[in-house]
Amino acid sequence: MPAQIIDGNVLAQAVRAELAEKAAALKATQGITPCLAVILVGEDPASQVYVRNKVAACEKAGFASLKFTYPAEVEPAAVLGKIAELNADPAVHGILVQLPLPPHFDADLVLEAIDPAKDVDGFHAENVGALMQGKPRFIPCTPYGVMKMLESAGVPLKGAEAVIVGRSNIVGKPMAMLLLAQDCTVTLCHSRTQDLAFHTKRADILVAAVGRAKMITGDMIKPGAVVIDVGINRLPDGKLCGDVDFDSAKEVAGFLTPVPGGVGPMTITMLLANTLTAAERTLP
Ligand code: GUN
Repeated sequence: MPAQIIDGNVLAQAVRAELAEKAAALKATQGITPCLAVILVGEDPASQVYVRNKVAACEKAGFASLKFTYPAEVEPAAVLGKIAELNADPAVHGILVQLPLPPHFDADLVLEAIDPAKDVDGFHAENVGALMQGKPRFIPCTPYGVMKMLESAGVPLKGAEAVIVGRSNIVGKPMAMLLLAQDCTVTLCHSRTQDLAFHTKRADILVAAVGRAKMITGDMIKPGAVVIDVGINRLPDGKLCGDVDFDSAKEVAGFLTPVPGGVGPMTITMLLANTLTAAERTLP
């Protein structure tokens, strides 16, 4: 039986409608409109699309948004100055610096400059530490979206074998912490893992977040497994595809997320959720 497809667009729409309602209520009762400030440095086309989508999602949900763009050659001090200004602005609840930054930037320095209470990406060391301790303040948006997808599909987590491929700070590592907190047995694989298929074939839940087109094939998947594809890769013909080979995977997996239309829309949705949370936390 082919896999059941978890439709990220449908779930994102439902969650965004709830967030829009909550934002409207916050405005009506407290006079507060959740506001996200986004900083984009350079002209990377993918980053430009992501930032445009984030700003559009804010507007559609009744959130305020501010966008600041800088040329790739900008002095880091200018961006740090803007962050300081946004940190001090009570009308701004969330601050996001789109990654990657140009090579002359120290990305960690920039992320640490953001007020942890406005760090809706959850990338500040203080928020990373809180997640690691099992007391999250802001959960990074992509793994947060994946958890929502697993919840919506009714996937049992307690005691499940979860295998994550990719150890990035943005996805792999926080994903491991979130699944661990739900009592999964977690294996974190990466580019130096020996015999990747040995691990992936044991997974009840397989999360692919490596950034290599179609590298997880059907023969690497346990029959009936839940397969979450975080990858967004552009093929030579211009089409988007994930880290999972969809056609072979769908014959083996129990649940599968598509690319596009899977995790992507949920990432932006959870950014809105974090921005709303940040705004609500400013209430006395
Ligand atoms: N670049 C790729 N994914 C992300 C993300 O979730 N947040 C930010 N700020 N940059 C990214």
